[in-house]
Amino acid sequence: MMEVKAIRGMNDILPDEAMRWRFVEDTTRRIFSLYGFAELRPPVMERTDLFLRGIGDETDVVEKQMYTFTDKGGESVTLRPEATACVLRAVIEHGLLGKDPIAKLYTLGPMFRYERPQKGRYRQFHQINAERLGEDGPLADAETLAMAYDLASSILGREALLMEVNSLGCKACRPAFTAALKDFLESRQDRLCADCRRRMHTNPLRVLDCKVESCREAVQDAPLMDALLCESCREHHGMVLAGLDALGVRYEQNPRLVRGLDYYTRTTFEITATGLGSQNAVAGGGRYDDLLSILGGPAVGGIGFAFGMERMIMLMGERQETASGCFVVAQGRPDIEREALAFMAELRTAGIRAEAAFGRSFKAQMRRADKAGYPLCVILGEDEVKTATLTVRDMRKASQVKVNRAAVLEEITSMLADDKGERA
Ligand code: HAM
Repeated sequence: MMEVKAIRGMNDILPDEAMRWRFVEDTTRRIFSLYGFAELRPPVMERTDLFLRGIGDETDVVEKQMYTFTDKGGESVTLRPEATACVLRAVIEHGLLGKDPIAKLYTLGPMFRYERPQKGRYRQFHQINAERLGEDGPLADAETLAMAYDLASSILGREALLMEVNSLGCKACRPAFTAALKDFLESRQDRLCADCRRRMHTNPLRVLDCKVESCREAVQDAPLMDALLCESCREHHGMVLAGLDALGVRYEQNPRLVRGLDYYTRTTFEITATGLGSQNAVAGGGRYDDLLSILGGPAVGGIGFAFGMERMIMLMGERQETASGCFVVAQGRPDIEREALAFMAELRTAGIRAEAAFGRSFKAQMRRADKAGYPLCVILGEDEVKTATLTVRDMRKASQVKVNRAAVLEEITSMLADDKGERA
């Protein structure tokens, strides 16, 4: 029989990686809640129209990458390629901004894009996504960028990170920039790739982001948005940067930074990391002042970002969260095993993780205790039963003590606390 394999670009997260995923998720929840964000969990599938309206039909995501199909009821549905449109749809549908004019929401989960899989680029990938709605001032932008920076640096450290910031202008000043850019691109069209010759008319900003070498060279001295920002966008941008300075965020201004989705206005940013090769964007986001109204909601602005979780986890490297708790080894006699089992229940009641592998040789059980990475091993044999003691072995120091049965829980708790202190 032929083996059934996973779909290309869609990966299993195996138990030995799950620890790192949990670490990233826990850190995210901790940091985001410090900023007053709450969780919202939209479904993974939406009506296709949401993404056509929300992301822009001239984007690569909508043009080429959506998992779209007709369901059994004849409706066109799409596995979400990103979360922003979904979160905004939920906010509008449930009237959340009517209940509170400010919404700060985050969501974690899988996204789907039909891209060519490679290191750091998958067809099912996971995002940490945050959206902040109802605050239009520049300090909301600065604080949101700081939250992204906080998360990135807590997990990856500051050294490997670069945060780049730009302003893409607004409805008032962007058209002049788009027109100037179109003129410029038309004068160089013979040097552009086929995609960009088309995009030049439909979505000229995307040409600035093309990875084809000849296009990159052709746009070297293209006009830049910062020269054409209107007074109000310029002021907003200046205050965002001042806010970032006040918050101690390290960033660089990159006037060439554009984003792959169409909804951005004003502040946009990306966080890249060394060590990922060509797929080096760990996070990206920005302000979107028109998206809520485009999706049928109130005319208020928002700002948000998303991290690619696979990329973060890859960068964390081999960092392993060591298991805490006790492995229990018992001599193979039914009454001793029963006693060991009862002792494990006692450990768990005290909040201490406990595992065993009864029914194997003593040596095999010890080998497993070692491999599982437990700092302590509790041994229960004939001698221990006779003397009402337990042997507690410190696996890292390779030393052991016999402890009175009545005092053993206290001893284990204190040894585990010491172990944690030593590792911190
Ligand atoms: P995005 O730049 O398309 O933005 O994606 C954000 C991050 O998701 C990227 O920086 C990258 O780390 C990760 N990512 C994207 N595609 C893949 C893939 N195929 N495989 C692995 N990782 C990937 C957005 O999605 C916006 N919704 C962000 C946002 C939220 N803007 C405002 N609010």
